[in-house]
Amino acid sequence: MSAGEAAIARRGGIPPSRILLHGNYKSPAEIELAATGAVGLTVVDSLGEIDDLEAATGVTGNTIDLMLRLNEHVGLVTNRKVLTTGENAKFGLTPESADEAIDRIASSKRMRLVGMHLHAGSHITDAAVFGVILGHLADIVARHRSAFPTSPVLLDLGGGIAAPYLRSDSTLSPQSVASAIRSTLERLAIERRIGPVRVMLEPGRSLVANAGLLLYSIGVRKRLPVGGEMLALDGGLTDNPRPALYDSQYELLPADNLDRPSDHPFRVFGRMCETDVMLDRALLPEGIAPGEVVVMPTAGAYTYSMSSRYNYLPRPPVLFVKDGEVREVVRRESTEDILSGQKALNAAASWSPKLDRSAT
Ligand SMILES: Cc1ncc(COP(=O)(O)O)c(C=O)c1O
Repeated sequence: MSAGEAAIARRGGIPPSRILLHGNYKSPAEIELAATGAVGLTVVDSLGEIDDLEAATGVTGNTIDLMLRLNEHVGLVTNRKVLTTGENAKFGLTPESADEAIDRIASSKRMRLVGMHLHAGSHITDAAVFGVILGHLADIVARHRSAFPTSPVLLDLGGGIAAPYLRSDSTLSPQSVASAIRSTLERLAIERRIGPVRVMLEPGRSLVANAGLLLYSIGVRKRLPVGGEMLALDGGLTDNPRPALYDSQYELLPADNLDRPSDHPFRVFGRMCETDVMLDRALLPEGIAPGEVVVMPTAGAYTYSMSSRYNYLPRPPVLFVKDGEVREVVRRESTEDILSGQKALNAAASWSPKLDRSAT
């Protein structure tokens, strides 16, 4: 995670020892987090980062634990924008660069290599991918076992387990991932080749995506020139940029009664100044009208965290609901929030220009 994400995790009670610092670019502030022990493990993404960490730990005098992120082709088929491995990927080190990185870390007094990491990408629906990742990580550890001073060696297989966005989406059960990992460990006799290992996973959306819903009000209903009807929502790519970024598909349901017959097709748009297509085809009740609330499920991951204030729209609140109790955990933003931080505008507000047009 980034420095901001690490700060959120620490504020949420996660001890620094359980926080991994990730990223293909780590800012000087993030390198400092690694060097001061504010995170438990740093996942190195490039050779240059090793120099940065060596210099920063030279200042703090700390010894820090590292993993190396490997970039290997793993045969994952997914949207190219969430594929993080392969020849076009910006992440991680090729096996040749990883060999060099391992030698450099092994000769450092202030860096300890405790494991290897490979996050292949998102929306993995085939558990076999985790077996391929494990095989690549075990191969590189086998080549350099003595460069890993601790035991067990950590093999971090990343995240990417798919979450269902549509009722028809296929998913991957934790059991099937676990059994692919277990059978790869046995088939490749990994522990016999490299000694004890600890396998780690970093599942993200599969844990939380289905725990969240987005609620929108319908703002507009009208016919499109091409035919058919459209709805415009009171939000859009500012609160969920995924349809615009990745053509992500969602379902939309009437909030008042999920069982209301929903067989009328609509194209659904947001309200930003782009075309802001949210859904090419949503089936909703024929009589649905502006003012009614609709639910977009599977919004617990990569929606609030990806939201923006584009078009100077304040962000909606985040509410937690349990046993009928509602708790506001992130407050609704206001126009004041939009104006705060606008130093030049706020200074100008106390200065009233005298527009005496008759003088010109
Ligand atoms: C390094 C790393 N691990 C895990 C994840 C989680 O991916 P997902 O939410 O698809 O499980 C990400 C997502 O970007 C990531 O960058």
